[in-house]
Amino acid sequence: MDPPMEFYRIKIVEPIKLLPPGERRRRLEEAWWNVFRLRSTDVYIDLLTDSGTGAMSIYQLASLMLGDESYAGSRSWYRLEETVKNILGSDALVLPVHQGRAAERILYTTLMRARRARIVPANTHFDTGRAVIINAGGEPVDLPTPRARSPEPLAFKGDIDLEALEELIAREGPESIAFILLVLTNNTLGGQPVSMDNIAGARRIADRYGIPLVIDMSRFAENAYMIKEMDPRYAGRKLGDIAREMLSYGDHFIMSAKKDGLANIGGFIATRSEDLYQELAARVVLEEGYITYGGLAGRDLEAIAQGLIEVLDEDYMRHRIGQVRYLGRLLAEAGVPILKPVGGHAVYVDALEAVPHIPRENFPADSLAAALYLHSGVRAVGLGALAFSRRVNGRIVYPERELLRLAIPRRVYTTTHLEYVAKSLASLLGEPSRIRGLKLVWEPSVPGVRHFLAKLKPV
Ligand code: F0G
Repeated sequence: MDPPMEFYRIKIVEPIKLLPPGERRRRLEEAWWNVFRLRSTDVYIDLLTDSGTGAMSIYQLASLMLGDESYAGSRSWYRLEETVKNILGSDALVLPVHQGRAAERILYTTLMRARRARIVPANTHFDTGRAVIINAGGEPVDLPTPRARSPEPLAFKGDIDLEALEELIAREGPESIAFILLVLTNNTLGGQPVSMDNIAGARRIADRYGIPLVIDMSRFAENAYMIKEMDPRYAGRKLGDIAREMLSYGDHFIMSAKKDGLANIGGFIATRSEDLYQELAARVVLEEGYITYGGLAGRDLEAIAQGLIEVLDEDYMRHRIGQVRYLGRLLAEAGVPILKPVGGHAVYVDALEAVPHIPRENFPADSLAAALYLHSGVRAVGLGALAFSRRVNGRIVYPERELLRLAIPRRVYTTTHLEYVAKSLASLLGEPSRIRGLKLVWEPSVPGVRHFLAKLKPV
């Protein structure tokens, strides 16, 4: 496989620096061994997240000048609303918010209250949504397809386990389920896509029991592209049409425009229910801003509207997914244990396999993240015990997986950058015993946000 072809050329550059090793060590110590606490200027290649870190196109940059900064009734809002309706259908009622977690907070807690229910099954919750539900007294339940556990590169590992979903509903009663959530793509389990049949299956169950179906569409275009590739029925279809079909099954939606909106900030809530819209609108005014800006500048609304068009371009997406796969292939060839197939926005390294000598209580994934920064100036994120372990009846329950996520910002890094990352990680893991575990020095009292803020030190 050759490196993916770029369908863009570079017009503006941003210098980056690779600090010498001793300097990196000092910076990491100052950051309490938590890469979230590093300054970006001390990072050479930043794969912490694909969220809000993409490069804008000339059309997006030009659209910033068209931003209408009116408090109410902004022209830019109507442009964005029309673009979203073009994807979700004309019956969708749309509200802007400053980013995805605001949409999660407002929609999820409104639904939980309206239905007086606290259980939220999902294909797998992502950390922000999970934290919102827990902090509202709810219970997020992960029901990934059993295929997600297979070491084989199976298609659609992002699916929800429909049988387990029906069992949960039968056990708890439909009235205790606040809503069913599908996260497209399944970020926590490797950016894996959810199949069209699985989305349709979740819709049927939602209808059977009268439970709302919420779709987190933050990476909807990546999901649509992988359906096109993996499901022969969709091979000849346009990305936009696949996306429209996928999203036609949802009742309510949250979007972080920092992902497939190709924007640096922003998000929205959408619903097909008039009544719910009125309630959500009131909360947006109270918590985010007026319903035609939602905490965003007019220029942000423009950038998102344009981004939502560009993200469905086949050339763009072929390169996007191609880059992620290219990094995955380089790592796999170098013997680094990664989740297969490679997902849409990131390569996930299996830290339990990569650093088996580090026990769970010493956070293998986050220890590997710290070691990778020390070794090469590359920043990635740990998604494992530090982020997801819970205390149940005084006992610590660890998440099933311990992953180091290398998320690729959109249109930002070159093939050479990816090759540097692969070479660095492979050489670091050539001598895994040199990587030391970490222990907690301090953690925040709010549940669900530990990994963002924790202070650590080597054992
Ligand atoms: N939903 C998904 C699937 C996400 O991945 C994220 C954020 C959010 C919602 C929240 O959106 O950041 O705009 O508030 N994910 C980022 C990540 C932070 O690194 O994967 P937000």
